[in-house]
Amino acid sequence: MALIAPSLLAADFANLQRDCEMVNASAADWFHLDVMDGVFVPNISFGMPVIQSIAKHATKTLDVHLMIVQPERYIDTFKAVGADILTVHYEASTHLHRSLQAIKAAGMKAGVALNPHTPIDVLRDTIQDIDLVCLMSVNPGFGGQKFIERTYQKVRELKALITAEKASTLIEIDGGVTNANAAALIAAGADVLVAGSFVFSAADPIQTIADLKQIQ
Ligand code: DX5
Ligand code: ZN
Repeated sequence: MALIAPSLLAADFANLQRDCEMVNASAADWFHLDVMDGVFVPNISFGMPVIQSIAKHATKTLDVHLMIVQPERYIDTFKAVGADILTVHYEASTHLHRSLQAIKAAGMKAGVALNPHTPIDVLRDTIQDIDLVCLMSVNPGFGGQKFIERTYQKVRELKALITAEKASTLIEIDGGVTNANAAALIAAGADVLVAGSFVFSAADPIQTIADLKQIQ
């Protein structure tokens, strides 16, 4: 059974406490929090003060996805506002290995996100240091985009790399996840499914999360 991580990017920002409580009451496992800087991606979402406010209400793991340049500048700050898992982009990290060590030294799980154009192979020499790989199944920056079908092949390749290197890395899929592709993603090797618009635009988000959680 996969872990389900609703993305608060699709929540109602004027009712964040309500939406946090919905996720708390649901079958979801994590909160997925998307930080965008308007430089690494062509959009700006929210940052530390909003995460700190979410942390006051959330009773589940905070999975923070940094879509920002030079993410190493803020590792300790995100720990201080409540992040449990901190994911940096491969494409934004000149010294990825150092960032992974710093995230773990700060007391968080360390994640690496890969854009759709980035091959799995680039993680060969760091996979044993990575707790979570976030495979982008859309180009990062916006919710509600169409799932990129090539992702299935990348999940299989990543799973093979993790097995070959005897790593215990989790595979997270981010972007365009719905009940139409969840089963095939899990079959390919996905451990964590992020879902934003599919959950928050549903008439019954709690039921939608429960349905996703049942898929295997
Ligand atoms: C995209 C973000 C995703 C986004 C997913 O840049 O990283 O987490 O919120 O949204 P949906 O599920 O609507 O594609
Ligand atoms: Zn994300």
